[in-house]
Amino acid sequence: MDKILRIAVIGTGGMGANHVKWWAQNPRAEVVALCDLKPEKCKKALEKAGLSADIPVYEDYKALIDSERIDAVDICTSNDFHSIIAVYAFEKGLNVFSEKPDAINAQEMQRMKEASEKAGKLLMVMRNNRYYSNSRYLKQFIEDGKAGEIYCGRCGWIRRRGIPGRGGWFTTKARSGGGPLIDLGVHMIDLAIWLMGNPAPVSVSGCTYAKFADNTAKADSQHAAFGEKVQDGVFDVEDLAMGFIRFDNGACLQLEFSWASNIEKEKRFVELRGTKAGFTWNEDGTIGIWTEDEHGTLTDLKPYTGEMGSGHARALEHFTAILLDGAKPDYTPQQGVNMIRILDALYESARTGKEVRL
Ligand SMILES: NC(=O)c1ccc[n+]([C@@H]2O[C@H](COP(=O)([O-])OP(=O)(O)OC[C@H]3O[C@@H](n4cnc5c(N)ncnc54)[C@H](O)[C@@H]3O)[C@@H](O)[C@H]2O)c1
Repeated sequence: MDKILRIAVIGTGGMGANHVKWWAQNPRAEVVALCDLKPEKCKKALEKAGLSADIPVYEDYKALIDSERIDAVDICTSNDFHSIIAVYAFEKGLNVFSEKPDAINAQEMQRMKEASEKAGKLLMVMRNNRYYSNSRYLKQFIEDGKAGEIYCGRCGWIRRRGIPGRGGWFTTKARSGGGPLIDLGVHMIDLAIWLMGNPAPVSVSGCTYAKFADNTAKADSQHAAFGEKVQDGVFDVEDLAMGFIRFDNGACLQLEFSWASNIEKEKRFVELRGTKAGFTWNEDGTIGIWTEDEHGTLTDLKPYTGEMGSGHARALEHFTAILLDGAKPDYTPQQGVNMIRILDALYESARTGKEVRL
């Protein structure tokens, strides 16, 4: 491969346009072509990124993949197309970066993983939360053994009123895979499990609710701006999920996610407890470490880990470094399989009212 990564972004809506901008800022990458079912969105994305309006734009991802000389595609479509486009790209010998969630169900995730293995090409899915400076600090802290054994924790992303693209693909189960559990769960469950050292899940229990489908209150979350709203569209997903995961090493994780619920305010968090220290990861980039010193005095540490930075841009830089420099991948497709199996099982548990073994 050349020393420049030739990339095409497929799906240039809210998030895809950001990806185009981040690729444009990456000196080791060249945006070769864009694709969206609505090509005018590609034109807007090029403009926003300060790229040439002459960069080819496609409506059909197969036509782009078949005609352009590229090393990789970056898939930022609605969730339903992540696996479909990834499998096609692997069949054509390309590397794949995809936005989260990895796929809308475990079968589709498995198909992506197998297609990547058959092609011998890289599959990486967005895990932007791993790349914030507070996350990297905590990962190092844990790997240095300072937290001891991490045996339990909690994570979540709860919104008061923040339903994205109401009536559109986000709230249509067949296109999104689900509501906040899959949309937000992928972010914070992944961060927690990654910090815990990626133990394998063995069973889950969950509950889901849909109480706000008809709520007309004004959104109070900036994230509600994602996706296009559809008047009188479909809303057949949950708006809140609670759950519990057990892992093979005996550890457990509580979780809660909502797009809408009657809480004080939006909050994104991971709290883990280890035998030597526990800690809290906060969305504003701060962390708290709860431990005791060598004299047995309970001690609170609030290390300053710098600006959070863009976890998304860093994830794309990591993808570039894997392909151009042979860097060791941080994300593995097996982690994606574990994640989507957890989510599928939580939905099954919510439906059946029983704990589900994985
Ligand atoms: N990592 C994050 O922080 C984050 C934040 C928001 C969204 N996302 C993810 O990014 C993805 C896109 O979300 P969004 O908010 O930008 O949605 P969006 O609806 O604004 O954009 C999706 C775009 O994909 C296009 N598209 C759909 N199917 C296509 C196809 N087959 N071929 C070409 N284009 C197609 C649509 O026309 C649309 O422009 C989702 O998977 C979402 O979960 C991630």
